[in-house]
Amino acid sequence: MTAEEIDWDSLRATALEAMEKAYVPYSKFPVGVAAIVDDGRVISGCNVENASYGLTLCAECTLVSGLMMSGGGKLVAFTCVDGHGNALMPCGRCRQLLFEHSAEGMLLETVSGIKTIDEVIPDAFGPRTLVEYRESTIAEQ
Ligand code: THU
Repeated sequence: MTAEEIDWDSLRATALEAMEKAYVPYSKFPVGVAAIVDDGRVISGCNVENASYGLTLCAECTLVSGLMMSGGGKLVAFTCVDGHGNALMPCGRCRQLLFEHSAEGMLLETVSGIKTIDEVIPDAFGPRTLVEYRESTIAEQ
């Protein structure tokens, strides 16, 4: 899918709807995310905090859980909004989470425009790194 083929307004509206469901008694910083899966499904997520602050689930965590629970697949487009509906950059850990489930060339709506997953997490550590290492150790034997 190219950036022009994606209905970013509609995806953002889904993220806004998800943001309304955020459980944020501690930070009072609601986040909503939405993504298009490679089979056309649209999924979403919100952040869910915890009294043990470090256990907070970012909105991307609930999105990835929803991805797996609704049939899996790869993410082709993603957007993230704050409580004002403004674009929000996924935190570092969540870029890693998204990378794991990204389709080749996945697009993200960011604070600085539409970017690819490789632009927001360059030279990422990921599934391929582990496969390549395994293959190189087999070749050594
Ligand atoms: N948060 C997210 O849900 N996703 C991000 O990518 C950035 C941060 C949440 C976690 C916490 O509930 C709140 O924003 C403030 O850090």
